[in-house]
Amino acid sequence: MADKLIIFDTTLRDGEQSPGASMTRDEKLRIARQLERLKVDVIEAGFPASSNGDFECVKSIAEVIKNSTVCSLARANDRDISRAAEALKPAASGRLHLFLATSALHMEKKLRMTPDEVYEQAKLSTRFARNLMDDIEFSPEDGYRSDPDFLCRVLEAVINEGATTINVPDTVGYAIPELYGNFIKNLRERIPNSDKAVWSVHCHNDLGMAVANSLAGVMIGGARQVECTINGLGERAGNCSLEEIVMAVKTRKDYFNLDLNIDAKHILATSRMVSQTTGFVVQPNKAVVGANAFAHASGIHQDGVLKARDTYEIMRAEDVGWSANKIVLGKLSGRNAFKQRLQELGVSMQSEAETNSAFARFKELADRKSEIFDEDILALVSDENVTQAAEQYAFVSLSQHSETGERPEASIVFTVLGQEVKGTSSGNGPVDASLKAIESHVKSGAEMVLYSVNAISGSTESQGEVTVRLQNSGRVVNGVGADPDIVVASAKAYLSALNKLQSKADRVAAQG
Ligand code: KIV
Ligand code: ZN
Repeated sequence: MADKLIIFDTTLRDGEQSPGASMTRDEKLRIARQLERLKVDVIEAGFPASSNGDFECVKSIAEVIKNSTVCSLARANDRDISRAAEALKPAASGRLHLFLATSALHMEKKLRMTPDEVYEQAKLSTRFARNLMDDIEFSPEDGYRSDPDFLCRVLEAVINEGATTINVPDTVGYAIPELYGNFIKNLRERIPNSDKAVWSVHCHNDLGMAVANSLAGVMIGGARQVECTINGLGERAGNCSLEEIVMAVKTRKDYFNLDLNIDAKHILATSRMVSQTTGFVVQPNKAVVGANAFAHASGIHQDGVLKARDTYEIMRAEDVGWSANKIVLGKLSGRNAFKQRLQELGVSMQSEAETNSAFARFKELADRKSEIFDEDILALVSDENVTQAAEQYAFVSLSQHSETGERPEASIVFTVLGQEVKGTSSGNGPVDASLKAIESHVKSGAEMVLYSVNAISGSTESQGEVTVRLQNSGRVVNGVGADPDIVVASAKAYLSALNKLQSKADRVAAQG
């Protein structure tokens, strides 16, 4: 019988640590529900000791998720662990994830602790955690750059104290597949009680090898859990990408011979949701979920695929959620058709009121755009989410004037805590004028560090999706907005970023 490979998703924790990827509680809840639909085994929901906001997020996710284990991260100290356990109280199935650095560099320079002190702390904190919960994961941070003798000593001790999963992070993405696989194999062979724990891999992508390293950890090292994120989201170059790991293991079952719980047809919708929520655009040539992942441009390839699909395709696009018929709805489509399409896309609305308001927005969009694609619907739903989460600012209307040789002018109406206000300004272009019109009122002083426009479904008839990244007092946030008018999309994205800047969570980073 094939072994099972546990998929541990950390989009909401490690992925969220990426600068600008911070999410609101409602956004995290929506993604957690989608991950449950995808049948992820473990959802790492956050790091409760890092901020009150994160504590509330983990708690809310623990309240609603029933079919995946909800995991909560903690540094290896009693205060963090108690806080993480508290947030997990409502969970149907919960896991505490403790981490403590074990590399000489991290122990000396970051923790300023001796190896013996780290050993003791790892042991005592695991004991403390095990008294609160049965499912305990321990991660020696920067594990791959740690001295193997010392690591064996620490890991044997934490397994003795009741750790049930041992995760070996390549925190800085330094590993090479064969070396990482053998590193784990060696630990498992040398640690006498290694068979009492599930072994896990957690690879960062600094050298572009996170997926390859994770697979080597599984095949050579014998790991049976992979930690990954949707779209490979994560600090610096990101983490191991869930969609790539899953499709590698499924497509090459002949080689890996491992079973997965994942329901792959929800992969694309999940990828879109994460991208639209965080503003991290998926590159077109990204494996599995990129716009070109199943597109054949060359005549020879097209001809081959038409004659026999497997000449150039190793996976079926529809198996990961790409629909064969891309035009889905139009202005004559009714509420039931809209609801059904949402279901097919794996999007569930939380209430009738939410469905009604999304449908009203759909009708509004269909009046302006004759063909509504899946991408439009997903953007609309995520826009809906942004609007609901927006406590401070919301877009109402915009007018702008631009003419060759003249300086563009814009006038915008938006609400501040429900009260309508109006701002006007000129600018270098219509977008610049519109955002300056917002600033003329808000005066946030935020610096814009990124502005990007993307056509949601490819053509000029498409909706424009705009991402704006703002930086203020050391915080970086992304805002996303979609509209057939890219100036309006830009204003929506800017207001969404300002809303995120408002939630001033002082967070402690998990690695740092
Ligand atoms: O990369 C890392 O070391 C981590 C740990 C907190 C598990 O994310
Ligand atoms: Zn990490």
